[in-house]
Amino acid sequence: MRRIASWVPFCLVSLAACSPPSAPPASAPVTAAAPVLNLKQVMEWVIDPAADVIWDSVKSVSTEAGTKEIAPQNDEQWAAVRNAAATLIEARNLLMVSARARDDKGWAAAARDLEKTAGGALKAAEAKDKEALFAAGGEIYVVCKGCHVEYAKHLSSSLRSRGPELASARTYGSHASQ
Ligand code: HEC
Repeated sequence: MRRIASWVPFCLVSLAACSPPSAPPASAPVTAAAPVLNLKQVMEWVIDPAADVIWDSVKSVSTEAGTKEIAPQNDEQWAAVRNAAATLIEARNLLMVSARARDDKGWAAAARDLEKTAGGALKAAEAKDKEALFAAGGEIYVVCKGCHVEYAKHLSSSLRSRGPELASARTYGSHASQ
């Protein structure tokens, strides 16, 4: 009995310590940080370099000596592709920040598709599947272009300059007949 009696006050003290008197700050709404880059900077400094890592990772390069097939060769190179894909996945959120989003229909759909197709590239990188990675790169390209045609008509030719490069990449491996 004596032991219980001395235990009870201890318990009350620890309970009091566990429940602070006022509401914890965790219940306060999280304040979103204001966007720093403008849309063009997000495109040129975040999205475009990440897409380039993916597009350059699997392709055929034709030289006088013949055709060379490029693909990630080691864990480090596969990780670099995975990281670029992760950047494009999260870029959906960068595009949907209210200061950047143009609407919640076509724009939101394109941003969602960017996340989805980049998700395919991430999966391919984790599986070290170069053909799946190549296919995902093509799907990403279609999304970039689709959004530009709708929302950045003035530059619809700037990505098209990559066309031949991608077209030659499309002949890679089992995709040759597609
Ligand atoms: C949700 C729509 C959307 C998606 C998806 C999108 N873009 Fe853009 N992009 C834009 C808009 C709008 C601009 C024009 C921004 C401006 O000039 O202020 C732009 C501009 C750019 C520019 C700058 C071009 C220039 O000459 O000024 C590049 C490079 C670019 N995008 C690359 C990409 C790539 C690569 C992808 C795909 C991985 C992509 N974008 C996906 C909407 C999008």
